[in-house]
This record gives sequence, structure tokens and C-alpha cells, in this order.
Amino acid sequence: MLRTVIAVSLVACCLALGLEEEWATFKSQYSKQYLMAEEVYRKQVFSQNLDYINIHNAEADNGEHTFWLGVNEYADMPIEEFKRVMLGYRFDATATNTNELYVPQIPDEAVPKKVDWREKGYVTPVKNQGQCGSCWAFSTTGSLEGQHFNKTKKLVSLSEQNLVDCSKKEGNMGCMGGLMDQAFKYIKKNHGIDTEASYPYKAKTGRKCEFKQPEVGATLTSWKDIPKGNEKDLQKASAELGPISVAIDAGHQSFQLYKRGVYTERECSPKKLDHGVLVVGFGEEVAEKYWLVKNSWGATWGQEGYIMMARDKENMCGIATQASYPIV
Ligand SMILES: *[C@@H]1O[C@H](CO)[C@@H](O)[C@H](O)[C@H]1NC(C)=O
Repeated sequence: MLRTVIAVSLVACCLALGLEEEWATFKSQYSKQYLMAEEVYRKQVFSQNLDYINIHNAEADNGEHTFWLGVNEYADMPIEEFKRVMLGYRFDATATNTNELYVPQIPDEAVPKKVDWREKGYVTPVKNQGQCGSCWAFSTTGSLEGQHFNKTKKLVSLSEQNLVDCSKKEGNMGCMGGLMDQAFKYIKKNHGIDTEASYPYKAKTGRKCEFKQPEVGATLTSWKDIPKGNEKDLQKASAELGPISVAIDAGHQSFQLYKRGVYTERECSPKKLDHGVLVVGFGEEVAEKYWLVKNSWGATWGQEGYIMMARDKENMCGIATQASYPIV
């Protein structure tokens, strides 16, 4: 009994102290600077996010969740702002799909238990889209970097800014959102995409396209879609080909503040896709099957920029709803 009382008061003390400390650490770690009035507001949002993190993690320690949350760069944003600023996948559920479909070449029994294309050199370091809804461009370069690597044995980082500035005709809207398949279409029509080094990222929609033909880093001949919602096919494509572009529903506080473990979210929709990311493999951890997913929110988000998302849980967060990859 006595021990319980002590434990409770200790927790209360440390949580109270925690906010000031966590706030100071957060501000310095992410170089946050606010005007006075804004700081009051941001601190209050941070405090609410911190409560959410602490409650969730206590439950996770208790075995009620398979993943943990943590303070990151986005901990001063309310979820509505986070969705508006950070997510940019423009999914049209009514559009009919006329793309060619992937047909698996490997039988069920040949699918490995674990795949991680990072180990094979197919994946560039984690990038950061900043406050611009250009996730779709990062997802596009991610799968093309992988396929280009397999073809040339050279890992070339490709230019998201090229896609952001130049693929409006294909239906993309720069920092206001876009689709990977529309970006593949642009790259095909344009006969290539520039390298990252020659056309660096600015996190803003440029007024004009600055594509330079001599700086092309990769090309593609076409692209294919994974049959809609089929996680088995996505797994085979991921095992057989390399990193695959996927769209997900990421519009949740749990995703915003994800730190580690296998992510599951009951509120997640398989249809309301709002974020483009890259599947770089899959596996199983403590009996939880996962997709290994590369995000574009820098290396301080999640597990060094990556998230493990639940696999074979009824297409959770729609990860297999709009998956595709380029043919090089
Ligand atoms: C790499 O390219 C070769 C040659 O086109 C192909 O046979 C192989 O399946 C590809 N491997 C991956 C992992 O994409």
C-alpha cells in the first residue's frame, strides 16, 4: 500500500516537472522559435500531445498496444494542422484504373519471411519533405531509385523538386499534393528525372520547371499497379522487385507521434489515403507481421525515419490499395 502511494506521488511530480523540461529540450532539439503569443499556444498543444504520448506508452508497456509514441519535430502541431501541412496524397476513389497490373512471378512457398532492401543497397538515406505536401514525389523517387539501382548497380538520389515543379500537366499540384502514378507518367513523357544533386529540394512549389536534360539521373519505360488491396501480391512484389510506392491513411495522432514497434490504428481507413510512402520490405517481430516503410519526414521521426506498419491485418491503413512501381 505504502509503496503504491509513493509510486503515485513520484509519477505526479515527474510528469509536472516533465513538461517544462520536455518543452525546453524539444525547442532546442528542433531549433523551434516562436513569437511570444504563438509560444503559449504551441506549448499548450505540445502539452496535450505529451499527455497523449504518456498515456499511450503506459498502455503499450502494459501490453495493450504493439507500438510506442515519442516526442518528435511535429509534437507542437495539432492533428488538424499536421494533416493539412504534412499529407499530400490526392486520392480519387472514383477514378477508374487503366494501368497495367502486376502479376506475381514467385509461388507462395518461395516468399521469404523477411525482406529489407536497405541491406542490398536499393534505398537512399531518409529525406525530409518539410512543410510541403510533396510526399507523393518522395514515394516516386524511392521506388525509381530502387529499380534504377537494380539496373545500373548505382544508387542515385533523384529529384523530388523536379516532380514538384514540373508534373502539373499530369495532374500533380506541387506542395498541394499529387499521385505517384502521375509522377511516373511525367517521368516517362519527359524521358527522365534529374538527380537530387542537380535539382535540389526546396519544399516550395517552384514558379517554373527547371528540368535540365543533361542532368537526368534515371528513366523509366512504364509502371504497374499492384492489384488493389491485395497484401499477398504486395508482399510478392516487394520480395521480387524491390521498394514499392504505396499510399496510406496517415491522418492520425498515433502516426504523427509514432516512435517504434508495429503500428496499428483502429481508426485507419483502407480507402481514405492521404500520404505517399515507400515499402522497402517486410517481416515479423514478436509475432506481429509488419511492412517496413520509409517515410519522408527526416531521420528524427519514428525509427530513424522508418515505421513498421501492421501487415495482413485487413489492408490496414490501405497500404495495398494504391501500390505501384516503375519499370526501368
Ligand atoms: C533486377 O534486374 C534483373 C534484370 O532485369 C532482373 O532479372 C531481376 O529480377 C531484378 N531484381 C530485382 C530485385 O528487381
